[in-house]
Amino acid sequence: MVDIYRTTYDEKGAGHYVAPRLAYAYLNIGLHDASRQIVDELMKESPNDWRTWFLHWWLRGTEEQDRKSRRVNSSPHQPRPTMISPALTHRVFPTAEAASEALADEIAELIRSRAAEGRQVVLGLATGSTPIRLYAALVHLHRQGLSFANVVTFNLDEYLGIERSHEESYWNFMHFSLFDHIDVPPENIHIPPGTTPDEELDAACAAYENAIREAGGIDLQVLGIGHNGHIGFNEPSSPPNTRTRVMQLNERTIRDAANAFGGAENVPKRAITMGVGTILDARRIVLLAFGESKAGIVQRALTEEISANLPATYLQNHPDVTLYLDQAAAPR
Ligand code: GLP
Repeated sequence: MVDIYRTTYDEKGAGHYVAPRLAYAYLNIGLHDASRQIVDELMKESPNDWRTWFLHWWLRGTEEQDRKSRRVNSSPHQPRPTMISPALTHRVFPTAEAASEALADEIAELIRSRAAEGRQVVLGLATGSTPIRLYAALVHLHRQGLSFANVVTFNLDEYLGIERSHEESYWNFMHFSLFDHIDVPPENIHIPPGTTPDEELDAACAAYENAIREAGGIDLQVLGIGHNGHIGFNEPSSPPNTRTRVMQLNERTIRDAANAFGGAENVPKRAITMGVGTILDARRIVLLAFGESKAGIVQRALTEEISANLPATYLQNHPDVTLYLDQAAAPR
């Protein structure tokens, strides 16, 4: 099976893209072993590719389900709630997977309770490697019967100047990791338009804000955190009252994305992002942070005074924020 994808790789010259698609196709038609073979190979060859990770977590869920139900199998450890900033609650889970499943369950509960009332749920969604397990968990829940028919989504941000079809566009990321596998109505999906010409950007940003308002505001916003403390693409020095706008990406953010884009020179230099004010308007916010590399910035977000230098500290001003952390990202 791996040979088949290698042939496809060589012929198309786009292996790290074609192989995950093939693994996904196999997974969809029930050829789990074939998918696993490709994914294991990809884990060795391109361990930093988010598509590899998404498939890995998705497969893992499928494999666990094959053994017993996910519930029975989930970790026996209870998360320990702790407080550092009086405003920012954080929960430390034994693993990133457990944290992601807990958030997926919370989202599922919200979707179901709203569906029972005949109402929609508005979710704010994030990209990056961190929420991949969350999306894999939501796909599993959908396969177990959870409908997303009453869900409206708004993504935090999108790179400017790349097509939707670009491998690294957030549009592509979201469809590959979540939207292609659930029944959310396509017209309910909102992602900032990354190919907007410069002269139309102000209008596009205002339209995004309007769409959020018309949908009734965001019920639950999922966030990651950049290594420089950004939320969405609100880089350090972003004021707290900002709305959806164009942001110049800072050097650290470009460096973090360089690998995925095959070099810093290929990383878009600008993005459209919800503003800090847009994010803080969400009724509830859950920030996910996993891994040792996030421990320092998480600690700072929890303990430092609110400041534009570290946009995640603005969350301290919000009445309902929880950080879901794994052990490695937890404050010491
Ligand atoms: C990008 C996204 C952010 C995300 C951050 C962290 O900058 N715009 O929304 O939180 O990456 O990414 P990762 O989860 O890969 O560390």
